[in-house]
This record gives sequence, C-alpha cells and structure tokens, in this order.
Amino acid sequence: MEIIRADHSGFCFGVEKAIDKTFERIDRAKKDCRTTYTCGNLIHNRAVTERVESMGVKMISSLDEAKEGDVVIVRSHGEPKEFYDKADAKGIELIDTTCVFVTKIHKLVLSAHGEGRPIIIVGSANHQEVKATNGWCDYAGIILENKEEADRYVRNFNSDKIPLIVCQTTIKRELLDSILGVFDKASLKYEIKNTICNATRDRQESCAQLAKKVDVMVVIGDPNSSNSKKLYEIAKKYCKNALFIQDISDLELKELGNYNKIGVTAGASTPEWIIKEVIASMSENVTANVDHNPMLDYMDD
Ligand code: F3S
Repeated sequence: MEIIRADHSGFCFGVEKAIDKTFERIDRAKKDCRTTYTCGNLIHNRAVTERVESMGVKMISSLDEAKEGDVVIVRSHGEPKEFYDKADAKGIELIDTTCVFVTKIHKLVLSAHGEGRPIIIVGSANHQEVKATNGWCDYAGIILENKEEADRYVRNFNSDKIPLIVCQTTIKRELLDSILGVFDKASLKYEIKNTICNATRDRQESCAQLAKKVDVMVVIGDPNSSNSKKLYEIAKKYCKNALFIQDISDLELKELGNYNKIGVTAGASTPEWIIKEVIASMSENVTANVDHNPMLDYMDD
C-alpha cells in the first residue's frame, strides 16, 4: 500500500502570512498590554482559531465590540472599506492580514466602481471574502453563484458601460468558464480579471491529477473552508472513493486497509501538523511514499 500526498496541499502563502503577523502581534501584546481581537475567524480552521484564542487573542463579530486603543487583526479574507473607515474613526489599530491577492481584487473593484461600471463577483454570496469585496464598490456588485444567475443577469442587463468581472479567489475554474460562456453566448461585452489565486489553482489541479490515479482520496480541511470543500468536490469527481475529514479523529483507519493507493490533500487553511498527524496514523500499517511539502509548521509543539 502506498500513501501519496498531492504536490500542492496545506497552508497557502496568504494564510502563512496571516498567521505570521498574528504571532508577531501576540509577542508584541506581551509588552504593550493592549487588548487584541480578531474580527471573525482569522482563517477557516477551528484548531488554529482555538490556538490563537488560547494565546489571548479574543474573537469579536463586529468592530462595535472594540474600543479606542484596542488592536484588531483583519483576517486574510479581507474586510469591506467601511471597516477600515470605522476603525480609523474609533481609534482602533488594525493589523491587516488580508491576503495580497484579495487586496488586489478590492483595488480593481474600487477603481471600476469609480468609473460607474457594473461589477460582477463570481463566487458565493455568503462567503466573507465576497462580502468584503462587495464592500469596496458600495455593495453595488452583482454576485453570480451559478450559470442560471448569469442567464438572468444577462437577460436584464441595461448598462451602457462594460462590466468588470472578478472572482472569489477559491472558486473552481469550471464555474468561471460556465458564467463567461453565458456572456459570450449573449454577445455581451465584459472585462474579465481572473482572480482565482495560484494557490487555489495549484491545489485543485494537483488534487485532480492525484485523484485519477489512487483508490481513495482523503481531503483534510475545516467544514467551513470553501477551498477545502472544493477540493473534496474535485476528489469525488475523479476518484470513486473520497473522504472529507477535519482531522485524524474523523478517519476510520480500518476502512483504508481495503485500498492499495491512498491520496492525501488538504485545504489552504489546514495546518501542517494536522496533515502530518493524519499521514503518520495512516502510515502505521502501510508503506508510505509521502511527497513531502516543506511548509512552515507554526502549530507544532
Ligand atoms: Fe491568498 Fe490564495 Fe491563500 S487568495 S489566502 S494565497 S488561497
């Protein structure tokens, strides 16, 4: 039996940066004694957020819960423009861990909105990243989650300006293609900025490649992590056996004994120590051939 890890899996560049900055802040907080919060989950991983909380960083759901002089960490998914304005007005210091790829989308949207152009965001309306992005165009953005919504949008389109289309960084390429197909079929002009980030693309592609050649795929991620759930969808598409687990406690190790080749991948917000623990437990009874991914391991004890 063989365990093969996807070429790209686990923490992405943006999440590493967010955690780096948070830990720097935790160190500094020991000296300046100012209360530090995260507004919402720092990243979509329960183990990480619990660890950060245990180190004294509390989670709040709105800036209304912080007061002048407090420090608030902005999560990697970003926040709307009004969040920054409010923090400024209240005298709250922000530690901004918004991923640079998300910040780039904010700038695109802000600029196009300033020109009076329609803004289309392809992604999930309920996702924090999409909500934050929409907040950079005064919430005038149209969020398209699927082809049917694109059909409706195109039928009712009535602007003389060319719409700008951007994407949530973690969507599947197929979704973007299907939506652009609707615009093309209607001969509606648009400007597309494909803002699906490389980390997402790499993880999805290597998951698909690996899923095609193994007997079972194990996807490790938090149930609230959009990119992890998409990896699971891809794993299911290309491999008839796919499992989605949060950590080793979700895995029925005995079941895996029925398979010869086991593929492992993990979402961009899954810490290295959780991946290592899963692989180590599986390896106890199988010959491992793990393609090691030298990620920084912030959470290792
Ligand atoms: Fe940034 Fe992409 Fe990760 S947008 S947070 S590098 S999944």
